[in-house]
Amino acid sequence: MSLLLCTRRRRMSELVRRWREQGLSIGLVPTMGALHEGHASLIRRARRGNDRVVVSIFVNPAQFGPGEDYARYPRALSRDLALCRRCGADAVYHPGVSQVYPEGFSTAVQVSGLSERLEGKFRPGHFRGVATVVLKLLETTRPERAYFGEKDYQQLTLVRRMASDLDLGVAIVGCPTARQPDGLALSSRNAYLSPRERALAPAIHAALVAARGLARGGASPKAVERRARARILASIPQARVDYVELVDARTLRPAERARGRLRLLAAVWLGKTRLIDNIPVFN
Ligand code: PAJ
Repeated sequence: MSLLLCTRRRRMSELVRRWREQGLSIGLVPTMGALHEGHASLIRRARRGNDRVVVSIFVNPAQFGPGEDYARYPRALSRDLALCRRCGADAVYHPGVSQVYPEGFSTAVQVSGLSERLEGKFRPGHFRGVATVVLKLLETTRPERAYFGEKDYQQLTLVRRMASDLDLGVAIVGCPTARQPDGLALSSRNAYLSPRERALAPAIHAALVAARGLARGGASPKAVERRARARILASIPQARVDYVELVDARTLRPAERARGRLRLLAAVWLGKTRLIDNIPVFN
């Protein structure tokens, strides 16, 4: 089957309505485009689990703060379409901003508690934008399953919460983080890095892994966080660390002790580029 490109919400809804009438299951992979192997792994996973796969490509203005990179966020539609085709997607939903936010749009989804911590503290309003657009994308495409990367662990947690709170009836499937061989998590924003910054960036993951060793040895959460932060700054002296936090993997609240299912998350500025990463600590 060839890849269908839908730029209109109604056309997308109509297509999935027909699929559902035929009893076909639908998997959705929401993205902002500039697709890489991380996105590809989600699309392939959706391909294996569903009769039809929709990839949405929409750089969502509502989740960018003033002064953030909305205008310069990488856009590469023809390459993205080729990747979607290669990974076996059936349709790409690529709406314009006015399709998603028509004039007069005034509703927002707020997932309290989860939205204000970690990323939310440094990017106020970000998760309101994410939750609102994800709800709209789910509503338009009505999937059985929607696929999200652990790379954006807080986002994955928040989307699960929203789906459960609002009885959306969609299964939220979390997928492992795809990395470069040197450990750097794949990200559309890696394209911003200079060659020198790119060479330093794997130190973030390396620091998390080293600090995880401490946590497994029973060190206190604060000691684990201090070690990760110090290791990042030792490897990348010009880095600015927004946060390094050891949290409960389900609630994202600060870990009280290094025990249970935890997650170690970090956000680090390398020059003008902000990178986030995280790893599981105890499974
Ligand atoms: P985007 O950053 O394009 O990411 C789309 C999906 O790909 C997210 O679920 C993200 O976690 C996942 N992803 C990104 N890098 C990954 C990697 N290295 N390994 C595995 N998965 C990875 O996240 C967004 O877009 C937006 O916030 C969105 C959910 C589309 C709402 O606008």
